[in-house]
Amino acid sequence: MPASLPRTIAEHYRPHRHHYWYARIKLATDPLYAGVIDALRDSREPLLDLGCGIGLLAHWLRASGFAADYHGVDNDAAKLEAAVESTRHAQLDRVSFTHVDLASGFPEHEGSVTLLDVLQFVPPAEHARLIDAAIDSLTIDSVLVIRSGLQRPGWRLRLTRAVDRFSRWWGWMNAGPQRYPQRADLEAAFEARGVEAEFEPLRGRTPFENWLIVVRLGVGSNRIQAQDGHGQQSRETDPGEVGNQHPASDPIVPEERPYRRDHNEVEHDDVKHGEVDAAQAEE
Ligand SMILES: C[S@@+](CC[C@H](N)C(=O)[O-])C[C@H]1O[C@@H](n2cnc3c(N)ncnc32)[C@H](O)[C@@H]1O
Repeated sequence: MPASLPRTIAEHYRPHRHHYWYARIKLATDPLYAGVIDALRDSREPLLDLGCGIGLLAHWLRASGFAADYHGVDNDAAKLEAAVESTRHAQLDRVSFTHVDLASGFPEHEGSVTLLDVLQFVPPAEHARLIDAAIDSLTIDSVLVIRSGLQRPGWRLRLTRAVDRFSRWWGWMNAGPQRYPQRADLEAAFEARGVEAEFEPLRGRTPFENWLIVVRLGVGSNRIQAQDGHGQQSRETDPGEVGNQHPASDPIVPEERPYRRDHNEVEHDDVKHGEVDAAQAEE
């Protein structure tokens, strides 16, 4: 990646100075997005970005040559507006955003999923449902990429929590951190679903407690993976298995609010500030 990429992407957030500097600093210091690109390198499947924030991943993906559909969801209307505006300004194709509260809903999707620095803001009681729904979305050639701090002793997690609390106090986040997941709980959840997971520290030059967790459907997956005669995956499931075990994986879109389906198909005027405000007011 050219060293100038963080600045190039940040320019699409002007004139919002806060978003501009956040994008520049985050992209220059955090190895997160490069780590995601690495995990996605063999996949051409559509990507669902859970808790997409201001849409930085969409910019980084396109700059890296990832051409599949990208769909971001978040429950922060102001961040979604920045995501829509910046990706429109950058003329990114096949990029869309929707207002979804992951504490109660999950968008219908088939393909890869990212969940980056989001879990700690979602009520802990919903973590298992969220991860199950993400696994239910996976196809054979796709990947679930989670970045999260893990609950363990040490100053890194204390610092991470303090910064997350400060972000809430400062107004950057619309919720404070609740609980960071335990590695053992995640491993148990992955094992129960028969998926393969790799855990790696991913901190780069940051002092935070961050791990990258890459999940794929393995041969032991209890998903029914059938191939039709053309080598295409069928998503048939046995009603007695996954579908009924994971009711949260049903398409739940209680607050779904399309922001932008495709920059080529939807005029910018269709994304009105009033819609964003209304979405916020519903929360
Ligand atoms: C630290 S930011 C990470 C943003 C983005 N994933 C990234 O890595 O650049 C956490 C994001 O999760 C979103 N979020 C938190 N709780 C959420 C919820 N219940 N439903 C949807 N999004 C949520 C926040 O609004 C915020 O954009």
